[in-house]
Amino acid sequence: MNRPNSAVPAPNPVSEVSAPRIMTVHKDGAPCYDIVYSLDLSELTRAIVNSEFSKKRLCIITDTNVISLWGEQVMRALKPLAEDANASGKEPMIYAIPAGEENKTLGNVQEIYRFLIENHFDRQSCLIALGGGVVGDMTGYTAATYLRGIDFIQVPTTLLAQADSSIGGKTGVDFDGYKNMVGAFYMPKLVFADAEFLKTLDERQFSSGFAEIMKHGLIRDKEYYFWLLEHRDGIMARDTKILTDMLIRSNEIKRDVVEKDPYEKGERMLLNFGHTVGHAIEKASDFTMTHGECVCLGCAAAAFLSLQRGYLSEQAYEQIRDGFLPFGLKITTAIPDPEKILRLTRSDKKVASGKLRFILLKDIGEAFIDTSVTDEEILSAIKAVTDPAV
Ligand SMILES: NC(=O)c1ccc[n+]([C@@H]2O[C@H](COP(=O)([O-])OP(=O)(O)OC[C@H]3O[C@@H](n4cnc5c(N)ncnc54)[C@H](O)[C@@H]3O)[C@@H](O)[C@H]2O)c1
Ligand SMILES: [Zn+2]
Repeated sequence: MNRPNSAVPAPNPVSEVSAPRIMTVHKDGAPCYDIVYSLDLSELTRAIVNSEFSKKRLCIITDTNVISLWGEQVMRALKPLAEDANASGKEPMIYAIPAGEENKTLGNVQEIYRFLIENHFDRQSCLIALGGGVVGDMTGYTAATYLRGIDFIQVPTTLLAQADSSIGGKTGVDFDGYKNMVGAFYMPKLVFADAEFLKTLDERQFSSGFAEIMKHGLIRDKEYYFWLLEHRDGIMARDTKILTDMLIRSNEIKRDVVEKDPYEKGERMLLNFGHTVGHAIEKASDFTMTHGECVCLGCAAAAFLSLQRGYLSEQAYEQIRDGFLPFGLKITTAIPDPEKILRLTRSDKKVASGKLRFILLKDIGEAFIDTSVTDEEILSAIKAVTDPAV
């Protein structure tokens, strides 16, 4: 078990910051969970105290990077729960998995089970996922399966996780290098999005978050797409107010899609825009490239395919491709063996009864599902994102 030291200052007092903003995500027409947006960690504690799971025993699951950056502050913020008569009366515990996509494995989920069993976490327990998409996906899967399901809360700390992966209830792990092969749909009880966490992200990880964010605009909302480009300077300066506005709009787009199709029978597949080729590049890179970097290339490839099909104009295609650049993402990469990417694309789980479901664009903001894309088309799209210098 990792326990943080006590050298980090306490969170801001409530009076210094504005009240949290709240968005509710529904399932089957009924409220399912809230996303609370706040720059004040004590609002997380408040949200837990005010919830039906305030009596639950808490275990924070984080990773080896996040624990040293934020573990102490979050533990401190949650301390009042151990003193509050309405809460569990127990201090939360904290457990860190090794950081990185290569550790998103069943083996590490087993390590979490072991920690929970050794520390007598029962059905009345609640996990808190404190970290990026890897921690969120793994903690959610652990919560879905431990003792046939316990509660969990998402406290996302990367841009990608705040904008996208912490909502929607997709949880899971990679298996034999294949992305998200084992998993479950399992909803969190609460999502707490605090843009202050983003201040410690390095530039590469911060930029990686924009692939999913631009994707939200590209599939559903042209106005938002151009809003992102207009607000680029404030966003890249990590202005927490602008970032929060951005997160809310991205989350709204994702929420609207997943509310209509929680189990990905149809419309939710639009959120896979850029992911078919993206996942193949991610696997081929042996996870040396980030998920966001690969999704960006996948989006550029899917836009190229849409251009080839005559759905997108040359101008729209160039806008989409080059629109990633101001956010620090690359639109080409070294792909020594495009045929290998094609093979990996074919083995992605988005293949339905032998047919690959590809997400294409008619325009910025207008995505649709296509099942007629050929290997030749995919190969030329992969070549379009291959660095010609290599
Ligand atoms: N469930 C979903 O709907 C969904 C959607 C999109 C992506 N995903 C998954 O999310 C994962 C990618 O997530 P990610 O990009 O957040 O990766 P990640 O979780 O690996 O985090 C990236 C790196 O940033 C570090 N980090 C996290 N928070 C930090 C902070 N505040 N300051 C400094 N460093 C910090 C982490 O330790 C890690 O090294 C992939 O596995 C992808 O499949 C899931
Ligand atoms: Zn993704």
